[in-house]
Amino acid sequence: ADSRRAKLLEINKEAAKYFYYQLRTERGSVGMEYLRKRELSDETMNHFGLGYANKYSNDLIQYLKSKGYSEDLIRDAGLCNVDEKHGMYDKFWNRVMFPIQDINHRVIGFGGRVMGDGKPKYLNSPETEIFDKSRNLYGLNFARTSRKGNVILCEGYMDVIAMHQAGFTQAVASLGTAFTSGQASLLRRYANEILLSYDSDGAGVNAALRAIGILKEAGMTGRVINLEPYKDPDEFIKALGGEEFQKRLDHAENSFFFELRQLQKNYDLSDPEQKTAFHREIARKLCTFSEEVERENYIEAVAQKYHISFENLRRLVGTYAAQTG
Ligand code: UTP
Ligand code: MN
Ligand code: MN
Ligand code: MN
Ligand code: MN
Repeated sequence: ADSRRAKLLEINKEAAKYFYYQLRTERGSVGMEYLRKRELSDETMNHFGLGYANKYSNDLIQYLKSKGYSEDLIRDAGLCNVDEKHGMYDKFWNRVMFPIQDINHRVIGFGGRVMGDGKPKYLNSPETEIFDKSRNLYGLNFARTSRKGNVILCEGYMDVIAMHQAGFTQAVASLGTAFTSGQASLLRRYANEILLSYDSDGAGVNAALRAIGILKEAGMTGRVINLEPYKDPDEFIKALGGEEFQKRLDHAENSFFFELRQLQKNYDLSDPEQKTAFHREIARKLCTFSEEVERENYIEAVAQKYHISFENLRRLVGTYAAQTG
C-alpha cells in the first residue's frame, strides 16, 4: 500500500514538473501572460510551482507514458478522463495549473483555471487514494511554518497566492469545497485563532457562517475580515495593498458579532414585533455559551451594541437556558 501511494505521488510530481516546464516555454506564453496580468511575480509563480496545461491534446498522457507510467496509473491519479467515444484523454487542457501540495510539499492533485470565461472556471483533480479534499488545505505546507500565530482562511487559490505574495504567509484555502471538520482539526495543530477572509458576496458570507460553526465545534475561535468594497483578498490587495489588508486583519470582527449582524438583516427593527423576535433570537444564541463568565461578557456586549437593557436580556437568556437545560 505504501509503494502504491509512493507511485501516485511520483506521477503527480512528474505531472507538476511537466506543467511547470510548459508554462516557461513558448507554448505556455498565454499562461504566463495571464499570470502576469494577475500581477504574480516570477518568484511567486516558482514558489507555488504554477504551471500550464497546453492545448495540444494528450500531451501529458504521452509524456507520462514516455516516462514509463502505465495507463492505469495515469487514470488512478486523476490526470485523464476516459470515455467510450474518445478513449483516454488529458483532463487538463489549456489551463493555468495550480499544484495542490500536502503539508510535506508533496503534490497530491491540481486545480486548473481557464484563462477566459470558459466553464468550469477551476477544474480540480478528483479525489484519489492520495487526495482527500476534506483533509487538506491549499497553502498549508507554507502556512504551517509561517509563525504568525494565526491562520487566514479564504476561498480560493489566487487569494492564497496574492496574500502570500504580500507577506501574509499564513493564508490557506479549502479546496473548491466547503470547509470541513477534518480541515478544522488540521488547522488546530497550527493556530488557535482563525481569521476568516471569505468573499464578500452572499455565497462568501454563507460559507463564512458555516465555517464559524465548524470552528466552534472544533473548539476554535474565529474572527471575520471585512473586505468591502472588494470581492476577495486578491482583489483587495491588488487595489489597496498589504498595509491596508493588515489593518483589516487588525480590525477583524468577533465571529459572534458577525453572526448577529447577518441575522439582523432578516429583521426590520423599526417594527416592534420583529425587533422582539430578533432579541429572542439573540438570547437563544447567547445560550450557546456554556461558561458563565463568557456568557455574561457577551450579554453585556450585545446589550450595549443593540441597545437592549442588560437586565432584561440576561433574564431572557435565563429563561431560554432553563428551557434547554
Ligand atoms: P471564486 O469563484 O471566488 O474564484 O471561487 P476565485 O478564487 O476568486 O478565482 P479568480 O480570482 O476568478 O481566479 C473560489 C474558489 O472556489 C473554487 C476554487 O478553489 C476557487 O479558487 N472553485 C470555484 C472551483 O473549484 N471551481 C469553480 O469552477 C469555481
Ligand atoms: Mn466566490
Ligand atoms: Mn478572485
Ligand atoms: Mn473569489
Ligand atoms: Mn450605540
